Amino acid sequence: MNNAELNALKEEYVAFGAATPTTEFADRAENAELWDADGQRWIDFAGGIGVLNLGHRHPKIVAAVRAQLDKVMHTSAAVISYAPYVQLCQKLCQLTPVRGPKRKAMLVNTGAEALENAVKIARAATGRTGIVTFDGAFHGRTMMTLAMTGKVLPYKNDFGPMPGDVFRAPYPNPMHGISEEASLKALRTLFKTDIAPHRTAAIVIEPVQGEGGFYIASPAYLKALRALCDEHGILLIVDEVQSGFARTGKLFALEHSGIEADLLTTAKSLANGMPLSAVVGNATVMDGSGPNSLGGTYSGNPLSCAAALAVIEVIEEENILERSAALGDKLADRFAAWEKRFDRVGHARNLGAMAAFELLDSDGNPDPALTQAVCAKAREHGLILLSCGFYGNTIRVLVPITVEESVLEEGLNVIEGALEALC
Ligand SMILES: Cc1ncc(COP(=O)(O)O)c(C=O)c1O
Repeated sequence: MNNAELNALKEEYVAFGAATPTTEFADRAENAELWDADGQRWIDFAGGIGVLNLGHRHPKIVAAVRAQLDKVMHTSAAVISYAPYVQLCQKLCQLTPVRGPKRKAMLVNTGAEALENAVKIARAATGRTGIVTFDGAFHGRTMMTLAMTGKVLPYKNDFGPMPGDVFRAPYPNPMHGISEEASLKALRTLFKTDIAPHRTAAIVIEPVQGEGGFYIASPAYLKALRALCDEHGILLIVDEVQSGFARTGKLFALEHSGIEADLLTTAKSLANGMPLSAVVGNATVMDGSGPNSLGGTYSGNPLSCAAALAVIEVIEEENILERSAALGDKLADRFAAWEKRFDRVGHARNLGAMAAFELLDSDGNPDPALTQAVCAKAREHGLILLSCGFYGNTIRVLVPITVEESVLEEGLNVIEGALEALC
């Protein structure tokens, strides 16, 4: 079936809220390129929204999934477990910056599910209920994670009331007028006005906000947040669903800060295209809830675990962390050049290959309409490009870290062409 025929099916049968606004349908994909149902080639700077740090269909990951497929496809880990589940938990405990001396992990399917479980674990371990999150945060689309998400449109608008005992502080964002001191002060105020610290189970933060706009919390800020949590016995949950698994030049963005979380959530590029997420944490905290209180029918599917074990090997074998840092440098150089050349481009930033810039109007304010126009122009020239951000004016690049040099150049030239045409 071609794009038009598939589009007709979509219009007729896919729920409006779940249907993609674009009219192409992916047919096959390889590393940072894909071909649609009409045979048109695309360069993929979205990477399945940060899921494909190792590219579409990395051969070693495909082989690992195939091999697992020939052994066991599903049992439900709640019924009978299997080697890849426990082997992956072991690896995650060895690699994740969470407090020891002993660490444990659990596996689920999506980022939102990991956050849901992190909250359950934190509440069980502390006997407290309050959860503090940040403006612009994105933690998922289930009801609890929607309550934790700090942006109404398009996520929360139609779906209230939200679960309670979720409180919000401003994310440190000096580019948009919130200094780190102001953010920390607001947290202390929150503890006076809305929830007592001794009723607060956890503060949940993305070290680099994903959907919120690729804003980066500095090492100093994260250290201060860690200290604030310790002062009050509050657990620090670090959400690395988007920033984790090599995107920022480290396995986890938190490693740039030198602090450790109590609980860390990971998903997306953890299994590079297979659905899988994890909560990794201090063993005492992780063991705080009763038997059979965590998990689900599909949690930690064997195929996904096999993929994740292969991902960890590939990251090491192919120097993916160094390549992520180098890709980040390249993107930063190019964005800086655009910032100089185009008045409407500003606030370029990156942590490794988690890189973004903003589009501004002639008064220097966020320009979401221009941002949409740049993404649309890129599509006209065969580049899949994503925007994001609290203000909807951030262009983010989540191209696979394994992208070929020539494909990267081609994609960046398409963005440059769009800026030339529109800025
Ligand atoms: C930081 C962060 N947390 C949680 C989620 C939710 O993940 P999922 O869409 O897999 O439920 C996302 C998704 O973009 C995310 O970026």
